[in-house]
Amino acid sequence: MSWPGSACSPTPTPPCRARSTSRRPTPRRRARAGCWRPRPRPEDGTVFGRTRPGHAIVLDGDRAEDCARLHATGFPHPWDALDFERLIGAESCFGHALVETRDPRRMQGFILSRRAADEAEVLTIVVDPSNRRQGVAGRLMRANMEALLRHGVKSWFLEVGDTNAAARRLYAGLGFTEVGRRQGYYRVAGGTPATALILRRTIG
Ligand SMILES: CC(C)(COP(=O)(O)OP(=O)(O)OC[C@H]1O[C@@H](n2cnc3c(N)ncnc32)[C@H](O)[C@@H]1OP(=O)(O)O)[C@@H](O)C(=O)NCCC(=O)NCCS
Repeated sequence: MSWPGSACSPTPTPPCRARSTSRRPTPRRRARAGCWRPRPRPEDGTVFGRTRPGHAIVLDGDRAEDCARLHATGFPHPWDALDFERLIGAESCFGHALVETRDPRRMQGFILSRRAADEAEVLTIVVDPSNRRQGVAGRLMRANMEALLRHGVKSWFLEVGDTNAAARRLYAGLGFTEVGRRQGYYRVAGGTPATALILRRTIG
């Protein structure tokens, strides 16, 4: 594609006065004149005060302990490291983590899904409390769904507590819709069991 006025465009670019001025104050000239400084970058790696740069990786068994630790921050009945080791090692399971770019040992969150033919179930997703509301879960879901899509998956299912407003909004934003309910499915410490909603997203 060529944009009007670009080098590939047949449309001649009109002469630009600013460009033809030889003493235009470029950043380098301003720096030489001592009136320009590079913009300081935040020390903690935040960008616009919101997201710590991170990237998605495929989960491997070495992260089972970290998964168990993170899982305990998000669920009242967490799974242990052995559970995660088995799941991550299973051929049908697809796991992704978002790790900090500066320190890849530090996981911001992770997701685990299981595939059966052209369907997949999201088994769990959790984001470190200090990284929530920064788009981490959205990125994890997309990375995981893209990998499953490449393996022929067309439909995704998951269960979410009807009182889990954050997760329900996350999934709604990704196009999941309710296809069923399980009354009293989740144990709640000292309370009435919560209802699970079954959500589905289909592509194609
Ligand atoms: C649910 C959870 C995974 C969301 O992770 P997250 O990284 O904070 O989510 P994101 O930043 O990607 O948010 C994506 C969207 O989800 C919704 N959302 C996320 N957290 C929310 C909150 N606390 N309140 C309302 N909406 C929320 C928003 O629509 C948000 O988009 P926006 O920020 O543009 O408004 C996280 O809160 C968590 O780990 N909870 C504990 C474990 C859990 O409940 N897992 C899901 C089990 S089904």
